[in-house]
Amino acid sequence: MEKDGESIPIFGSIEASRDIIMKKLRKEPVPAEIAYRLIKDQLIDEGNSRQNLATFCQTYMEPEATKLMSETFDKNAIDKSEYPQTAALETACVNILSDLWNVPEGNDFMGTSTVGSSEACMLAGMAMKFRWRHQAEERGLNVQAQKPNLVISSGYQVCWEKFCVYWDIEMREVPMDEDHLNLDVDKVLDYVDDYTIGIVGILGITYTGKFDDLQALDQVVEEYNQSHKHQLVIHVDGASGGMFVPFVNPELVWDFRLKNVVSINTSGHKYGLVYPGVGWVLWRDSEYLPKELVFEVTYLGGRMPTMSINFSRSASQIIGQYYNFYRFGYDGYKNIHTRTKEVAMRIAHAIEETGLFHMYNEGENIPIVCYTLKEDANVNWTLYDLADRLQMRGWQIPAYPLSANLDKVVVQRLVCRVDLGQSRADELIRDFIQSIEELNHAHILFHENEEAHVQGFTH
Ligand SMILES: Cc1ncc(COP(=O)(O)O)c(C=O)c1O
Repeated sequence: MEKDGESIPIFGSIEASRDIIMKKLRKEPVPAEIAYRLIKDQLIDEGNSRQNLATFCQTYMEPEATKLMSETFDKNAIDKSEYPQTAALETACVNILSDLWNVPEGNDFMGTSTVGSSEACMLAGMAMKFRWRHQAEERGLNVQAQKPNLVISSGYQVCWEKFCVYWDIEMREVPMDEDHLNLDVDKVLDYVDDYTIGIVGILGITYTGKFDDLQALDQVVEEYNQSHKHQLVIHVDGASGGMFVPFVNPELVWDFRLKNVVSINTSGHKYGLVYPGVGWVLWRDSEYLPKELVFEVTYLGGRMPTMSINFSRSASQIIGQYYNFYRFGYDGYKNIHTRTKEVAMRIAHAIEETGLFHMYNEGENIPIVCYTLKEDANVNWTLYDLADRLQMRGWQIPAYPLSANLDKVVVQRLVCRVDLGQSRADELIRDFIQSIEELNHAHILFHENEEAHVQGFTH
């Protein structure tokens, strides 16, 4: 860096000798090279995101995608009229998803990008609430007499709890137990009444990766609808499965092929393979998206419907999603996801072979490996100790208790992503076995009294 004609090395600068975390804004600017280096260095000890197997979110995109996205940070996704080509790419993504999710021919489907599945779930939940209210009023129900409710398994992701708190809905949890590690379809109707705005089925329960049985749920809902004026609807939370299953297991019927599935969300930044900041929600027909939730903006001299909780945000993630769709095509996604699934299954197989773990998910449906220590494993360490040991080798693999009444069961979960190649997966397996070996010979303190807790980020 040049100052008064002199070149001052970054680590010889005054800034390098100070804490860079500010309590209030500095008065003087800092030269750009110093600011870059020191902030980048500040982030070093967060670990290597590629070894972070706690997250579903993408940690790798192709350099061309990254370039395209960084060159389009300046575009505001909400400015449809200023950036009509960007808006056209967003519409194209919605059309592609409608095809992947089998919207029936001729339906007036609608959809939008969002910041992620959380915003998408909020929008889908609001649509269910508003539509329920209209229909309940038409049926003559006193909608003030009781809070509306939403029915979901206790394996829900926190965004649903937020939705219920923010929009004043009672969340009715169908409990999971050892025999039902997903939505108990035999019990679900026990939680339904005239005030139910809808039922959420999950394609990829965050805790374990398991799927709800959406076909069975649709059947139960259909039987209910045949005998009631109150018509139940299903929303599918496909945050992780929505962009995986159509490529790897297209025969599985979970989407708009099911009559009562009215909306679906997914995270583009999970198996849509885009860096964090994009999700999607689609409605099978405009009748399921009440008009109050749709705001018209100007677009190429005309009007375009928008649905969003946010207003301004960069369009670069939408462009990144379109890049992936255009670049990979159906076969590209299929090959990538199939390979990731094979990696997950190989890891699961190696873990199972140790004989110490009871497997909850072996990577077959989505590439999530989830297990608990067998009760008779006869070891002096816990999954928390194993998580610690793996972290020493850079792997971030969280251990945490399952939800609600299963919170005595501590599990560990690995999320395999596109950038976990076979060779690194084999490295991980070696580290895993080695960690167990070391723990078997280690003198471990305190863990006997340890309460179940979350160790590592699990969403
Ligand atoms: C089932 C499910 N729903 C919703 C979400 C929230 O997704 P996002 O991080 O895209 O907001 C997640 C995240 O893990 C999830 O697993």
